[in-house]
Amino acid sequence: MGTRKVARSEVRSYVNDFETKEYLRQYYASVEGDPDEELFTPFHRKQIEFYKKHSSKWDCKTARLLEFSGEERGEIELWKFEKEGAHDWSGHFKFAVNKLENMTGDATTSLNWRDRETLLRQRITEIIGCDICQDYALSRKQDPFNVISTSHTLEVICGTLFEYKAAVKKLVSLLKPGGFLTMFADECQTFYTIGQKKWPCLYITLEQVKEALSDAGMMVVVAEHKEASMEQLQNPTTSDHKAMLFVAAQRVE
Ligand SMILES: C[S@@+](CC[C@H](N)C(=O)[O-])C[C@H]1O[C@@H](n2cnc3c(N)ncnc32)[C@H](O)[C@@H]1O
Repeated sequence: MGTRKVARSEVRSYVNDFETKEYLRQYYASVEGDPDEELFTPFHRKQIEFYKKHSSKWDCKTARLLEFSGEERGEIELWKFEKEGAHDWSGHFKFAVNKLENMTGDATTSLNWRDRETLLRQRITEIIGCDICQDYALSRKQDPFNVISTSHTLEVICGTLFEYKAAVKKLVSLLKPGGFLTMFADECQTFYTIGQKKWPCLYITLEQVKEALSDAGMMVVVAEHKEASMEQLQNPTTSDHKAMLFVAAQRVE
């Protein structure tokens, strides 16, 4: 169990300044037609393939969501309990169920996208506070996890490779022996924007991510990256990422 505290060089602003609704509006309004669709679609397919391959080993009937701020947890609750003002995720469910799962050629269920959204609402049993920079990262004591997945997270909250490695160790400490960590991330990115505001990121490569995982006692089982198109590289809009990556690693028992 790692007890090292991650320095909070760039983290503080996420406490006060992160505008959840604006972030969702900018990055999750729609999925088809997104300028990065071609870049991220193969990774989402990889994730689905990974889960299909390994999920029979786990109880997949429940999911616990770890979220940093009260505002973000509130946003998920709005969606889970179908309250007014909730973000509309229907486009993402349609895309995931109709397009991505069909693309893998092995749809796991005959449920349509609406039923899948309802099922996920039911299966999320807890929404737990998580500050990966704290000695004990979770707001409530939890049984260890079979699998933890992150998306665009550690590289945007850690200021140095040292902090990044400590955060990976912290996540690994929350896993069962034999459990998996998957991460979907931007590679070689120094900033992304929300509205006019720039958010700093740690410039990190796939090799450094793999090194952090192996330092934390993980065996890397998937490590993929895809470079952004020349057009995206020449005209950076919402970020200066050079590529995206997906890794999956297993905690060595
Ligand atoms: C760029 S957003 C990514 C959100 C979402 N996972 C996604 O894929 O779009 C970065 C996330 O890191 C979270 N975060 C910031 N500081 C954190 C910390 N110390 N521990 C855990 N999460 C943190 C923020 O609250 C925010 O949700």
